[in-house]
Amino acid sequence: MKSPSHILASTVQDKIMSADAAAALIPSGATVGMSGFTGSGYPKSIPLALASRIEAEHAAGRPFKVSVWTGASTAPELDGALAKVDGIELRLPYQSDPTCRERINAGKMEYIDIHLSHVAQHAWFGFLGKLDYAVVEVTAIREDGSLVPSSSIGNNKTWLDQAEHVILEVNSWQDARLEGMHDVYYGTQVPPHRKPIPIVAAGDRIGETYLRCDPSKIVAIVETHAPDRNTAFTPPDETSMAIAQHIIDFLGHEVGKGRLPKELLPLQSGVGNVANAVMDGLEHSPFTGMTAYTEVLQDGMLKLLASGKLSFASATALSLSPDGYAEFLRNLDFYRQRVLLRPQEISNHPEVIRRLGVIAMNGLIEADIYGNVNSTHIGGTRIMNGIGGSGDFARNAYLSFFMTPSTAKGGSISSIVPMVTHVDHTEHDVQVIVTEQGLADLRGLSPKRRAKAIIGHCAHPKFQPALIDYVEEAARRSPGQHTPHLMDEAFGFLERRVKAETTPAQ
Ligand code: COA
Repeated sequence: MKSPSHILASTVQDKIMSADAAAALIPSGATVGMSGFTGSGYPKSIPLALASRIEAEHAAGRPFKVSVWTGASTAPELDGALAKVDGIELRLPYQSDPTCRERINAGKMEYIDIHLSHVAQHAWFGFLGKLDYAVVEVTAIREDGSLVPSSSIGNNKTWLDQAEHVILEVNSWQDARLEGMHDVYYGTQVPPHRKPIPIVAAGDRIGETYLRCDPSKIVAIVETHAPDRNTAFTPPDETSMAIAQHIIDFLGHEVGKGRLPKELLPLQSGVGNVANAVMDGLEHSPFTGMTAYTEVLQDGMLKLLASGKLSFASATALSLSPDGYAEFLRNLDFYRQRVLLRPQEISNHPEVIRRLGVIAMNGLIEADIYGNVNSTHIGGTRIMNGIGGSGDFARNAYLSFFMTPSTAKGGSISSIVPMVTHVDHTEHDVQVIVTEQGLADLRGLSPKRRAKAIIGHCAHPKFQPALIDYVEEAARRSPGQHTPHLMDEAFGFLERRVKAETTPAQ
C-alpha cells in the first residue's frame, strides 16, 4: 500500500476514507466530472465502488444513474463498470468502451460527442449545466494543498474549478517523478475577456506545474495503488506500413518543394494502430529534429523521442501500451525533459494549432469521393468511438491527413464511398487522404477533380470500377454539376453494383 507521504496537506487528512464511503456521497442524478484520457489518469476505485452501489440500488428496485463527463476514453474500471450496471444516464465526450458503445447504440445511454477542445469551455460557458462532483486521480497532495497531476490532465482543471464537491483519488502507483511534467494554464477566460494563448513553440511552458483546488470543496480523499490500463498496439502490418510510407514520401516531397522545413512542423498523431504505425515509420525516415503538438503520446512517438528524431512532445495524456509504459518509467528522467502534459483545451487549442502549423494525421471510417470524412459512425447510425480531437486538429492544421486501409471487414467494404453516411470532417477540412493504395492530395482541387484523385489513388482496385461508374453516371444525370450526386443511388449504389458484379449470371 502507499506511503502516507503522498498526502502532505494537514488540512485534508480528515477527508481520507474508503472508496465505498466516497462513492456513497454521490447521489443518483448527479453529474460527475471524472479524470481520465485514453486509458490514463482515470480514478481506479471510486467508479468501481459507485458501480457496486448502483447495482445494489437497482437490485432493491431503486433507480440510480449518474451523468459522466471525462477527458476522453477511460478504461473498464470506469466506463465499462458503470455501463455494465446501467449506471450512466449521459456520457460525454469521446469514449471507446465496448459496453458503453453497445448501450449507446441500443438507445439505453445518452451520449454527446463533442470536439475535445470544446468540452472545458462549454462547461465554463454554462452550456452543459451544473457539475456536482469532480472525481480526479492525482499523484500526490502537497503541503500547500496543490495537486500533482498524474498520467493525463484532460479536463481536470475545469472539473476541479467547476464542481461543487471534489473527491480525489491519490494513486501511489503513479510515479512520483511525474511531478514537474505538467503545464496547467490558468489564463483561459470567457469571452469577451480572452487573451492570446502565449504558445509559439511546442515546448513552451505557459502555466503551473500543479492543479489548484479549493480545500473547502474536498469531501473525500481515497488512496489507491493501481496501474493505468492501456491496451497493447498491434505491430504495424503491411497495410499500415504502406500508409506510413506514402505519408513519409509526401512529407519529403513537400520539404523538397519548400512548403515544409526539413525538420517538418509539429506533428499530431491520432489514436489507433495506423496512427501508431506512421510514428513507427517516421523512425526510419530521413527527418530529424521533429517536434509534436498532439493530444496523446503513443508508443510510436515514445520511440521517436528515444531515438532522438523527435526532440519534444506536448500532449494531454500518455497513451502507452504496458510495454511502452514500462520503457517510459525506466527512462523517466530522460522523457520528463522532453514531454509536457497540458489541459486538453490547450493541447487541442485551435489558435495554437493554427499558429504552430501542426501536421495532423487522423484515422477515418469512410471517406467519400469528394473528401468528406466519417470518423465516428458505422452505417450512418451506430457510433464507434467519437470525434475526439480529430476536428480540433484537422480544421486548424497546416496540413491535414486522414488515413485508412482502403477496405474494411476482410475486404468486403470499401472505405471510399460515393457519399459518407455521416459527416465529421467536411471536404473543406480534409487536405490529404491516404490508404495503402496511395495518397490523394486534394489541395487546390475542385470537387470533380477531387473525386478523380481519391478514386484513382486511394480506392481498392476491386471497388474502383463501381466508383468510376457512379461518377460517370452522376456526371450524366445529376441535377447539379458542382458536386454531382445521384441521391437515390448514393448509399445503395456501391453495394448493389458490387453484388451485381460478384453474382454469377443466371
Ligand atoms: N465500415 C464498417 N466498419 C468499419 C469501417 C467501414 N468502412 N471502417 C472501419 N470499420 C471498423 C473496423 O472493422 C473496426 O471494427 P472491429 O473493431 O469490430 O474490427 C473498427 O471500425 C476500427 O477500425 P480499425 O481499422 O481497427 O481502425 P483504427 O484503430 O485505426 O481506428 C477510427 C479508426 C476511425 C475508429 C479511430 O481512428 C477513431 O476513433 N477516430 C476518431 C477519433 C480521432 O480521430 N481521434 C484522434 C484525435 S487526436
